[in-house]
Amino acid sequence: MMQVIHAPAEMYNQTMLLKMSGKKVGFVPTMGYLHKGHLELLKFAREHCDSLVLSIFVNPTQFGPKEDYGSYPRDLERDKELAAHARVDTIFLPDVDSMYPPGYRTFVEVEELSKGLCGAFRPGHFRGVATIVCKLLNIVAPDEAFFGEKDAQQLVIIRKMAQDLNMPVKISGFPTVRDADGLAMSSRNVYLSDEEREQATGLYRALQNGRSLIEGGETEAARIDAAIREAIARDVPAGVVEYVDIVDGNTLAPVSRTIGKTLIALAVRVGKARLIDNIRVGG
Ligand code: PAJ
Repeated sequence: MMQVIHAPAEMYNQTMLLKMSGKKVGFVPTMGYLHKGHLELLKFAREHCDSLVLSIFVNPTQFGPKEDYGSYPRDLERDKELAAHARVDTIFLPDVDSMYPPGYRTFVEVEELSKGLCGAFRPGHFRGVATIVCKLLNIVAPDEAFFGEKDAQQLVIIRKMAQDLNMPVKISGFPTVRDADGLAMSSRNVYLSDEEREQATGLYRALQNGRSLIEGGETEAARIDAAIREAIARDVPAGVVEYVDIVDGNTLAPVSRTIGKTLIALAVRVGKARLIDNIRVGG
């Protein structure tokens, strides 16, 4: 039977008991409104642990004042059914007050890595992400935690935080799950109209074009960048590009030449949705 735990102390105690009996605890943190990307991530995690914890918490500190915290899609009953089907053992479902009681004062900042890409457009976002993930890892105390590569910058930041803060947990990445037409699965895809949804498929094609250019021998980041932006302007006319960046896959620092492990990442607003996607090349 799947358990639902609300209280942080109860969550921690459960993990301690499981660990004492030799069980390996796996953890997938989410903000809920589960889609196939989350479910594939859970399936992967399920195969790598004895007891699987899913957290659902729409974390207010990672949303900017003008962002969609209030309207972020939520459907707890559906999430519970999907989680049971994915053989989740425990859903950790804290409320905002237990995570951020009045007088809460402590935040985690992962310097430099939080500045570029999405960090440049969402000030404070990764401070909120690092803080909540740190708290969740302390409460759930898993042996291994699983994150999607779709949120590439988030994963790099969480890995760095866990390393820098000596957190006793293994952080694992999982490849981006896409719809058949290539669009990366996201809870925010529900904001798209049919026409926008159709156009949005052009984002992954543009990234694939970029990767083909590099694989074909192009190394000049500016030219790859221009080709991706042209493809988006042509195929995603409803799109407003926030950024297209070509960066070092480890440090996330912009590169002018693509030698070695490279990440091409983008954020594009399509209608009400802010869509992100990325592709890795080399390394
Ligand atoms: P959320 O957007 O709900 O995503 C939860 C996890 O699912 C993240 O690790 C994310 O990278 C992964 N994920 C989302 N879409 C995916 C896809 N199409 N393919 C593979 N994995 C995918 O990311 C967050 O929540 C929050 O920032 C969180 C880490 C929970 C902190 O609040």
